[in-house]
Amino acid sequence: MTDPRELERLAIDAATRAGDHLRDHRPRRVEVVATKSSDVDIVTAMDRAAEEMIVEYLLAARPDDGVVGEEGNSRATRSGVTWVIDPIDGTVNYLYTLDDYGVSIAAVQGDPDPRTWTPLAGCVHNPPRRLSYHAAVGHGAFADDRPLRGATSTGLAGALVATGFGYRAERRKRQAEIVTALLGEVRDIRRLGAASLDLCLVGDGRLDAYYERGLSPWDHAAGALIAREAGALVTGADGGPADAEMTVAAGVPLHGELLARLAELDAFSGY
Ligand code: IPD
Repeated sequence: MTDPRELERLAIDAATRAGDHLRDHRPRRVEVVATKSSDVDIVTAMDRAAEEMIVEYLLAARPDDGVVGEEGNSRATRSGVTWVIDPIDGTVNYLYTLDDYGVSIAAVQGDPDPRTWTPLAGCVHNPPRRLSYHAAVGHGAFADDRPLRGATSTGLAGALVATGFGYRAERRKRQAEIVTALLGEVRDIRRLGAASLDLCLVGDGRLDAYYERGLSPWDHAAGALIAREAGALVTGADGGPADAEMTVAAGVPLHGELLARLAELDAFSGY
């Protein structure tokens, strides 16, 4: 079996190269070339260029691996390892020259399905800060060379909780109701705009918790492994793996408190 630390190294290199390109060659006007789930769910020419760079780099090193990329690259694995790639997580931040965006790359074993895969390694690179969060399963999580501090042990009432919103108006309405209820029960709410970074920040103890419904596999594959390797609990609604239904990340016991409150708020279905 491949050493997960080799995959981690590759993920860091690929994410940093793509991140350098995104930062250093950002056109003055970033071109929106397509939309997805709604008119505000955008794809830029830079998302596509970065994904191409990443796929080319990874497959040059490991030609038998599979690929699942947000921008459409898809290739079945022959080695058992699949790369799950979000070339720009936080595309809207990138469009607006806000710093919270990341290149997210994870290597997983098994079918590329968050309910069944085994995450092996991952990197979330933040180009504006030139910072790489990374982890290999069983070997801990780091911000560049610094071991992550680990999740906090705050209770819900004292928690700084991050969340995110989908791109469809109907989903957002319900997400707004849920966050409105929580707002009076926690220290405060943050909406940074990049799920992968939210997860890393929970692992680094710089956010107490993060939850979101509707994530795609590439939004959470790397960040969830990094948060978990840092000591956070990251699950879906049923306490199993995180998935599109729900992703909740926090230390213990906050994770349980937040999950229970989200269940009371009926946050797991119907929107
Ligand atoms: C989005 C970001 C955002 C989250 C959305 C994601 P994208 O990813 O992670 O924070 O709230 O659910 O879709 O579209 O920028 O790759």
